[in-house]
Amino acid sequence: MRQTDFLVIGSGIAGLTYALKVASHFPDKKILIITKAAADETNTKYAQGGIAVVNDPENDSFEKHIEDTLIAGDGLCNEKVVEVVVKEGPDRVREIIDWGARFDKEADGDYKRGKEGGHSEFRILHHKDVTGKELERALIEEVAKQKNIEFVKHCFVVDIITQHHLGYLVNKATPDVECYGVYVLNLESNMIEKILAKITLLATGGNGQVYRATTNPSIATGDGVAMVYRAKGRVENMEFIQFHPTALYEPGVKGQAFLITEAVRGDGGILRNRNGEAFMERYDERKDLAPRDIVARAIDSEMKRTGTEHVWLDCRHFGKERFIEHFPNIHDKCMSIGIDIIKHMIPVSPAAHYSCGGIKTDEWGRSSIRNLYACGECASTGLHGANRLASNSLLEAMVFAHRCYMDAVKIFEKEETRTPQRGAGGLFPDWNAQGTAEPREMILITQSLKELQLVMSDYVGIVRNDIRLQRAMRRLDLLWEETEQLYETSTLSPQLLELRNMITVGYLIVKGASFRKESRGLHFNTDYPDKSSLVQNIVL
Ligand code: FAD
Ligand code: SIN
Repeated sequence: MRQTDFLVIGSGIAGLTYALKVASHFPDKKILIITKAAADETNTKYAQGGIAVVNDPENDSFEKHIEDTLIAGDGLCNEKVVEVVVKEGPDRVREIIDWGARFDKEADGDYKRGKEGGHSEFRILHHKDVTGKELERALIEEVAKQKNIEFVKHCFVVDIITQHHLGYLVNKATPDVECYGVYVLNLESNMIEKILAKITLLATGGNGQVYRATTNPSIATGDGVAMVYRAKGRVENMEFIQFHPTALYEPGVKGQAFLITEAVRGDGGILRNRNGEAFMERYDERKDLAPRDIVARAIDSEMKRTGTEHVWLDCRHFGKERFIEHFPNIHDKCMSIGIDIIKHMIPVSPAAHYSCGGIKTDEWGRSSIRNLYACGECASTGLHGANRLASNSLLEAMVFAHRCYMDAVKIFEKEETRTPQRGAGGLFPDWNAQGTAEPREMILITQSLKELQLVMSDYVGIVRNDIRLQRAMRRLDLLWEETEQLYETSTLSPQLLELRNMITVGYLIVKGASFRKESRGLHFNTDYPDKSSLVQNIVL
């Protein structure tokens, strides 16, 4: 058993930013960061386009960024949260620059600004087309300098410890569910261990792996959301899965799809269908730079209409130098598979990209479980509403990491004296693995995962209807039953734990989609093509 003052689960931008702030506020307290993979294997590392932030007073304003965010969110954003994130954003970006993150600059020293769908101005700060890699680098280097941060890799969080583990009945109606720490599967020793913490932050990222085609790396399995749901915490708006319009189409390639950043369209890239027609003007007056929900649906419709598995992104008019200057990584990737962007168009199709819903939090990042905060992609703060504005996610993670930190240090100071029995680890039982054995066949897990991804992609994708959702739910029920049986009888493995979490997340997406009897933002149901006059979050 371990004890720590502050426990941080996840080493993406949300977890690392929060850890750095707490560590500098309390130099004599222990901060423990854990991640189930290598230090930098996160959604953050793959971010391309950049950070949307108001940084050009002559042409841009908070009001414009707020309006763009609200329009993309299609009536469901929390306006107070939008204002907070947009207005606090510039200070947070200055901090990450102070920690060593570099953004591209013009010859005169001013920042280069990119543009993406739904933005009325050029405001996206970026590092070439590998912004996330640069941010992860800077944050990990800064964390390594802190003496009071311990960083444990390859350690899989299984469940949140609450009073349920002390034998109390906990359900959705229990008023004061409390988090005391977590059970983890140590992937080096293969043992389940207990970590007790006074304050815990979940920064576990997204859930793109629930779908067959996704831009997300393999860690994005929705673990944090599934854990909170099991612990009887609140989760909301899970139906709003954002499909990025332009993942590179590579037939036969399995796993994470390579992203072609929206900034390419911001710089003038044009979507064309199989006949070479620039089709976006038929769908929206903002053409290729309409918000993502609109562009992804338009591509889906063109692919179905013309019977193809992809459309084309045309950059042939860019000029090689200009393209390589901003997008060297995309250029190299395309060249590696024989696509010279000056001669050829790039084949692209939509892929699951971002979860707009998640663990419900208030404006300080508090979840519905006491002493448990959630931040970054796993959280639902109210910023994104029914559709996230491009490049608002890194910004949200930084602003909310700061807010979680501000609140957590206040709570910590109170809690230390208020609950002296907390931290008495002996009270919490060790993990009970009795009656379990090594699973006889891995295929039981890998096949169920494939089935889950097929069900979610075919029935709960960009376009939905009631019959598809009902089918999906029936199939998920069966997968759930079979996986629970495995879970009860098998020694735990990360594959089994992730499958279990992904089935839970799939269930929450379908449940949210079934409750939402309208089409809004990213949720489009052909049985209810219009928006309802009842504007509501779906809380599960
Ligand atoms: P992540 O960075 O995903 O980190 C999650 C962490 O949690 C990882 O360390 C993981 O190992 C850990 N973890 C998860 N489960 C467990 C568990 N059970 N136990 C232990 N550890 C666990 N957004 C923008 O704003 N601008 C962009 O340009 C942009 N481009 C993108 C491009 C791509 C290809 C992708 C995939 C996303 C992009 N996004 C972008 C979205 C953005 O990158 C993410 O939303 C954001 O980085 C999420 O950060 P995070 O800290 O919440 O989670
Ligand atoms: C991109 O670069 O297109 C992704 C940006 C984002 O997801 O916000």
